[in-house]
Amino acid sequence: MTNFWLIPDNEKRIDDLIDKMTLEEKIGQMTQLSPSIVGGFDLPFPELIEMLTEGRIGQEEFKKIMQNAEMDYREDQIRAGKIGSFLLNNPTKANELQRIAVEESRLGIPLIFGFDVIHGFKTVFPIPLAEACIWDEDIFAQTARISAREARSHNIHWAFSPMLDVSRDARWGRIAESPGEDPFLASVYARAKVRGLQGNAPGADDHVAACLKHYIAYGAAESGQDYNTVSMADSLLYNVYLPPFQSGVAAGAATVMSAFNDYNGVPCTINEFLLRDLLKERLGFAGFVVSDANSIDDCIRHGSTADLEEAALKSCLAGLDMDMNSHAYSTYLKKLVEQGDIPSELLDDAVRRILRIKMGLGLFDHPYVSQEKMSLYDVLPDEHIELARETARRSIVLLKNEDNILPIDQSRRVALIGELADLPEEVVGSWAMGFNVTDCVSIRQGLLNAGLEVFYEKTCGVASPFDPDELQRAADRADVIIAVVGELISMSGEAASRADISLPGQQETMLKAALKTGKPVIAVLMNGRPLAIPWLKDHVPVIVEAWQLGIQMGNAVADVLLGDYNPSGKLSCTFPAQVGQCPRYYNHPSTGRPGAKSKFSSRYLDAPLEPLFPFGFGLSYTTFSYDNLKVEQTADQVLASVEISNTGKYAGEETVQLYIQDITASLVRPVKELKAFTKILLQPGQRTTVSLAVPKAHMGFYNNTMDHRLEDGAFNIYVGTNSRDCLQERIDIAF
Ligand code: NOJ
Repeated sequence: MTNFWLIPDNEKRIDDLIDKMTLEEKIGQMTQLSPSIVGGFDLPFPELIEMLTEGRIGQEEFKKIMQNAEMDYREDQIRAGKIGSFLLNNPTKANELQRIAVEESRLGIPLIFGFDVIHGFKTVFPIPLAEACIWDEDIFAQTARISAREARSHNIHWAFSPMLDVSRDARWGRIAESPGEDPFLASVYARAKVRGLQGNAPGADDHVAACLKHYIAYGAAESGQDYNTVSMADSLLYNVYLPPFQSGVAAGAATVMSAFNDYNGVPCTINEFLLRDLLKERLGFAGFVVSDANSIDDCIRHGSTADLEEAALKSCLAGLDMDMNSHAYSTYLKKLVEQGDIPSELLDDAVRRILRIKMGLGLFDHPYVSQEKMSLYDVLPDEHIELARETARRSIVLLKNEDNILPIDQSRRVALIGELADLPEEVVGSWAMGFNVTDCVSIRQGLLNAGLEVFYEKTCGVASPFDPDELQRAADRADVIIAVVGELISMSGEAASRADISLPGQQETMLKAALKTGKPVIAVLMNGRPLAIPWLKDHVPVIVEAWQLGIQMGNAVADVLLGDYNPSGKLSCTFPAQVGQCPRYYNHPSTGRPGAKSKFSSRYLDAPLEPLFPFGFGLSYTTFSYDNLKVEQTADQVLASVEISNTGKYAGEETVQLYIQDITASLVRPVKELKAFTKILLQPGQRTTVSLAVPKAHMGFYNNTMDHRLEDGAFNIYVGTNSRDCLQERIDIAF
């Protein structure tokens, strides 16, 4: 489907248009800007951003301040055809600006409005790391479809998503925005998101263009520190970091955003090998590439270009089609083309790609959004709310449930403690910007909605101290304690890496005191990354990983705690036992000395070998047994079958996972690689045979020059309930 946007009639129209365009107008199409903030608040803008980043003001407060800010919307530049795209979340203003572009600019080329619609717009769904725990392609597509519908009604044509950075380091704040550590799961997620955002054919006015980001290897930032350098073998790029992008491109993604980091010493923004050779030539990407915010300018600090002019030159030569906010193309491209440094055909190619998407989106024919459409989702439709609740409860991962404390009985009186339980604005996670806080359901509210008797005391903040009296007050009146602990939104997302990924502040102290009351304690985690919580695992009887689940979080948590929904989420990322294990991920390449008890093996002296919870892990209120793994092959497939029984008391959903290991190969291969999964629903006592197929063509790997290799030899096939607990068979394959 790489020709998704290649519509012959449009291509002809675009050629005619390009013939008419001046050099300035072409550069205009390659320029994306935000409105510039010219004042209207008491503090300098950078200080305001600092306050937001440090959590001194919340998203809500920031939003209010921004609503009063004075903006310059660059109307004159639009009229002169000097802007092709705008970052905007204001439908009325967008119509006004569009009118200038369409009716007052010489050629009437419409603007394309882009915005960060990452995990929902008005209806905020779980953060991507959480949603990926559902392991369900249709759900991934459905949430994207609703996001697209709401965004498009708000005059947003282009979502800067899906974020596809394979993320293996829990310290990296942006792991929250990613589908986790596995390239296979991320590839399923990629194509589903593209399908959901863009629809089955271009032109539908309730869909948007997708943007695969951040191309590429941004998730491999050294030591999990955001924007840090990246260092990796090419084969790792091709086998692990590239596949989700390949999948998104194959699904017809309209755009790709270059990453902030360097690859092989060259910033992705100006990396000709990545942009032109690999993405456009090798993968056949027909859409356009946009830089990340100000990243052309960043090349100066990378030390890769002397100044912004050289950065503009290198970006354009490398195949970067649109400049987000650096003002580099608008300032220098004309001169660079006129003096012959950039062939004009390169500009034509970039402009053609951009116009292709604008035309494919139908913007030339329907540039505006009606008032009626703008207000379509002022009140969220039931269908959207239901999907938000469904995805939220399915994203929850049950990590521990000693003595079957969960589900709790409706008649139990609950002591609810922890600041996060009562902060509706915190349920959405990072990168949520279109929602109304009145739509957000906190955990406290969710438990009340479910009819529970709840005694809430804040007891401890994420950053404020533990108050034993408050704990006592709540505990005295209750049979069970639910402690909501974790991170604030500001602790994950962009520019929010943490070197210590334990529970912040005194939350663990609060949990210790809660255990001392003698009442059963249920820890509900609300966080944007895997946390290193070994003490919790050893001492707290119940741990529910609830992430940041979006607007329906409270109701979804109540559904799970009360057993109205039997948890089925499976981790999309490994939980390290200690931060020192980071980056910790299940599919690491084999070493010559695998970790063991002996001294000369790959391990730490002062940390366990195993992670806290492995990739793919997640409990249910019921139990499943796996037996009789059988593996056979046909000419082009490996087929595995396994018998699975529900051995517990509840009906439950299980995600059956198949991993392979290429035992001997010309390059060191991962100890395990996910290659297939399926979901089943079993009633208590029910037994079924599950079959999973892996095309043999998917059992190879890329070498360091990106030749795909299918090498004969022995493979281990694993089928199980998570990446650690599997049945195993060995098979010899001749391709
Ligand atoms: C920077 C982020 O890296 C990117 O993900 C986002 O889309 C842009 N800013 C625009 O907000």
